[in-house]
Amino acid sequence: MTSLRFTGTAISSSQREIPSTNRGGCGKPIKLAQMWTLRAFAGSSFSISASSADALPAAPVKPVIDLEFIGPKPGQDGSFPVDKAEAISGEKLLRNVMLDNKIELYAAYGKVMNCGGGGSCGTCIVEILDGKDLLNERTNTELRYLKKKPESWRLACQTIVGDKLNSGKVVVQRLPQWKK
Ligand code: FES
Repeated sequence: MTSLRFTGTAISSSQREIPSTNRGGCGKPIKLAQMWTLRAFAGSSFSISASSADALPAAPVKPVIDLEFIGPKPGQDGSFPVDKAEAISGEKLLRNVMLDNKIELYAAYGKVMNCGGGGSCGTCIVEILDGKDLLNERTNTELRYLKKKPESWRLACQTIVGDKLNSGKVVVQRLPQWKK
């Protein structure tokens, strides 16, 4: 329990003006709406307790989805670049997770011509390499744009990461159409 204890001191509030030596440039007194002053009273004491704040229950921990994003082309050492991020389950679209974490989503055309997540351009393609069960089902928009593409391909702006209850790891291939 947290408590404040004042011994030999009482608090009172009063309207006060700043003394003339502290007045503003125009000479008008500066009024303080309310100023707390301390006055000493021998032998008086009181305490303030904060036990009710201490008793608040801890917020429940929300499940988290860990994400790994594999780049489409190997670096000079021959390994594919991997970016990592995490998202609270069921709270974000994959597109937003990638943009928020500055993870490249669009190819050159999509960078300038994407629809901003409206599901009308088909440029936000990713491939889910692992963890597809942690995501929502393909939407009708995806069924239309990805009709002739592999089943593992998704539109990031249609893909919800998690369902608020599940947790685990999702591995995403970025720009699968560029994969070498
Ligand atoms: S951003 Fe246009 S369809 Fe996903």
